[in-house]
Amino acid sequence: MELNMKPVVVSGDELNALAERSGRMLKKIRDSMLQPFPRKQSPTFTSGKLQSICGIDKTRMNYLLGKDFPQGFQSGKGRQRTFTLEESIAWVKGTIGKDQQRPQGQLGKVIAVANFKGGVTKTTTSMILAQGLALRHARKVLIIDLDPQGSTTTFFGINPHAEVEADQTVLPLIDNSQPDLTFAPMQTYWTGVDLIPSSTDLFNAEFILPAKVHSEDPSFQFWNVLRNGLIPLLPMYDYVIIDSAPTLSYLTINALFAADSIIVPVVPDTLSFASMVQFWTLFSDLVNGLKDISKGPKQKVFDYIDILITRIPAKSSAQMVRDWIIKTYGDHVLPVEIPETSLAMTTSAEFATVYDMPNYQGSTNAYERICEPYDRLVDIVDSKSCLLWGIGDTPTKEK
Ligand SMILES: Nc1ncnc2c1ncn2[C@@H]1O[C@H](COP(=O)(O)OP(=O)(O)OP(=O)(O)O)[C@@H](O)[C@H]1O
Ligand SMILES: [Mg+2]
Repeated sequence: MELNMKPVVVSGDELNALAERSGRMLKKIRDSMLQPFPRKQSPTFTSGKLQSICGIDKTRMNYLLGKDFPQGFQSGKGRQRTFTLEESIAWVKGTIGKDQQRPQGQLGKVIAVANFKGGVTKTTTSMILAQGLALRHARKVLIIDLDPQGSTTTFFGINPHAEVEADQTVLPLIDNSQPDLTFAPMQTYWTGVDLIPSSTDLFNAEFILPAKVHSEDPSFQFWNVLRNGLIPLLPMYDYVIIDSAPTLSYLTINALFAADSIIVPVVPDTLSFASMVQFWTLFSDLVNGLKDISKGPKQKVFDYIDILITRIPAKSSAQMVRDWIIKTYGDHVLPVEIPETSLAMTTSAEFATVYDMPNYQGSTNAYERICEPYDRLVDIVDSKSCLLWGIGDTPTKEK
């Protein structure tokens, strides 16, 4: 490419044209990735895969097939069965036991995935948690895309800029045209996961909320709008997962205050470690500062705030930063680490996660290397909730 040394003036019109061109290009790329309609289909699971998800062996599966369990599809006698996602979740529900169900009267847990730094896998982690909790633990999950970039929405096969209207997002709650969020959840291709999508209209929240601070009564708590709007949904869902933007915006503040717990994905490089320091300072100023403003008796408390070390490359400098993180944050570091793999990168370039491809045809090693820690992350998160719901510390599988 030749270096263009001609002096240029970039006018507003030129900027408009650039914005239009980039918008058109992104739409083209998204549309071609998300073909054909319906944009996204849920995967099917082989009997072997389903046995491993349920923690049962072949004999047990054959026994349960004789009971009331879904039969799956078999192309001929003696052939391997395949099960739809819906059938697979029914198997999980039937094998995990009633004692693992969220007890009546216990509310769903709200987990915000947050870090003010960009590109640390907030969206991937949110997706994995939503899909994994629905699949591996038969949980009912609501995922909220609170990032105007709309990556989570795209992962569900929806173009956030062309197909989502402002009134399908959380915005009507923010501008008071809806009293809560019961209007918003939409079904998705992934059984058990509902979505409140995002669109660029979400940027408006950054004007609406501060304007309300100035015009409304002094008791208006701009940071609790989302939490209040979620309250009627909490008996209906086991989990609400919130994917947030990489900024300390009014919406991100609402995500943090709506959350019972926070997962902070961190990539182990020096810059990310440095920006973590900023995250904790801002976050603790926020929690303590808002308590003072509200003059309320209660300080916001969280069930847990955990760091997820993610995208760990094989190189040794990353191991050093990983050690700093563990030394600094101790028990707040989740006992599972997500490696950097090209498979995770490729799947997300296609707006999918590894959970979308249980029948991956490539290297089993590569697949297991990323899937195994994701499964573990999902299981750890569910164990924590089980404890908080008072249903014991040995959840999951029959085996
Ligand atoms: N385990 C992994 N190994 C390698 N690449 C990964 C892995 N997980 C995610 N990625 C890649 O990292 C990039 C960032 O991921 P993601 O979009 O989830 O981050 P994010 O924190 O949500 O970003 P943003 O701050 O822009 O919202 C994506 O391009 C994705 O392909
Ligand atoms: Mg994101």
